[in-house]
Amino acid sequence: MHDVRAHITTYGCQMNRLDAELLAHALRRDGAQVVADPADANVLLFLTCSVRAHAEDRLFSNVGALKARKRREPDLLVGVLGCTAQQYGDGLRERAPLADVVCGPGRLAEVPALIRQARRGWPAAALDPPRANGGADALAASDADLDRLELARPLGGPSPRHAYVTVMRGCDNFCAYCVVPHVRGPERSRAPSAVLEEVRRLVAEGARQITLLGQAVDKYEAREAGRPWDLADLVAEAAGTRGLARLHFITNHPAAMTERLAAVFRDVPTVCPYLHMPAQAGSDAVLHRMNRGYTVADYEARVAMVRRARPDVAVASDFIVGFPGETEADFEATCGLARRVRFAGGFVFKYSPRPGTFAAQAYRDDVPDAQKRRRHQVLLDLLQRSAAEQNRALVGRTVPVFIEGPSPHPHLDAAKEGGPEGECGEGDADKVQLRGRTPGGRIVVFDGPTHLAGEIVDVQITRAAAVTLFGERCVSTGPAG
Ligand code: 5AD
Ligand code: SF4
Repeated sequence: MHDVRAHITTYGCQMNRLDAELLAHALRRDGAQVVADPADANVLLFLTCSVRAHAEDRLFSNVGALKARKRREPDLLVGVLGCTAQQYGDGLRERAPLADVVCGPGRLAEVPALIRQARRGWPAAALDPPRANGGADALAASDADLDRLELARPLGGPSPRHAYVTVMRGCDNFCAYCVVPHVRGPERSRAPSAVLEEVRRLVAEGARQITLLGQAVDKYEAREAGRPWDLADLVAEAAGTRGLARLHFITNHPAAMTERLAAVFRDVPTVCPYLHMPAQAGSDAVLHRMNRGYTVADYEARVAMVRRARPDVAVASDFIVGFPGETEADFEATCGLARRVRFAGGFVFKYSPRPGTFAAQAYRDDVPDAQKRRRHQVLLDLLQRSAAEQNRALVGRTVPVFIEGPSPHPHLDAAKEGGPEGECGEGDADKVQLRGRTPGGRIVVFDGPTHLAGEIVDVQITRAAAVTLFGERCVSTGPAG
């Protein structure tokens, strides 16, 4: 496939970002080039997200906008891959007639073959078996393909020396609003030996930070070497990898959080004090209709359990506002939960009915958009206030910061957040504004040389803004710079 120059556009979550790496590896292994600029590409691949209508709308409009280019370049191929492809299946080409390749999230290893097929003409489609039809063998075969890709792909994750590793695929929770169980299929835990082999290899190649991924990662369950493994076992084993500095695992489901897992925050030093455990709502009635499987009291008890183990754990959540039937009192209850828990951060989404989900079928989307927008803003403000409060508590402290790279919006950050005037940055051409993370995942911006990307350095926090901390690098020993 030496004549393939592919460009990948990625939407959505961390799983998709990892899938994009696997896809790039599959293409390169096949002799294709993966290019950074879509203008240089003859194959445009879209790794899609269907969790909310917004991402999907953007996808369809971006694909639709290629019409003129397709007319000018008749050999240009367009691939719609991932969750939206799986969601629409055979109907996808009605929404995106320009799609030459259609491929579900479990079949990405087949994309190079699909591209060859598409050059001969339609159909060039590979979808996961619908979960109702069993299809366990087909699923196991495509999982094995993905495992092989994942084990072989080079280090090149979300930032230098940070890598994602799959722990679980799919989801069986069927939260009423969520499309994921429908498009990513049934829950499958990866073999502990495969996860550990991958972690060790990535660390040997230079990774210092690893994020273990699963939709409800704390439901991890496997049997190997004659014994059962839960996530606590897996994390403890992975965390011991020599050379690994930071280990995260996301996303936690409140109903699956256990004492054993909470204890790893206390007992395993490599595990970061960061817990992403979506509450989604703070009203029992709404949680029940969402089919979340816990009450507000359960949620708070799980947070308390983790905080007993590790008091400084930064707890982040996702919330959905405007779920069908959400009253003003329900929303107030959600705000109450946010006030009591004092989240370190969080994401707020306006409910968006997704085709095929229980909520879309059973409930009317009855909260007016103006209300959704207002609730979204109110809750976001509240979360940002508690995040800012916790940020302020760090001023004056020195914290180890994992450097992701240059700050993506250096001047903007500085202007908006009232950042440092750059006393130590002037006159040094290599010094830029760097962006990194505290162990709890808080963003820190400070001046330093670009070659520090991927390192962990001590930074003294000098100022705290709403979402960003500002600091100065502590250079005590060794050469400056
Ligand atoms: N509408 C709005 N938000 C949603 N999420 C998932 N499905 C929907 C939906 N239909 C949110 C949840 C989840 C996050 C990844 O996306 O908060 O945790
Ligand atoms: Fe969706 Fe719920 Fe599964 Fe998360 S746990 S992926 S919200 S169904």
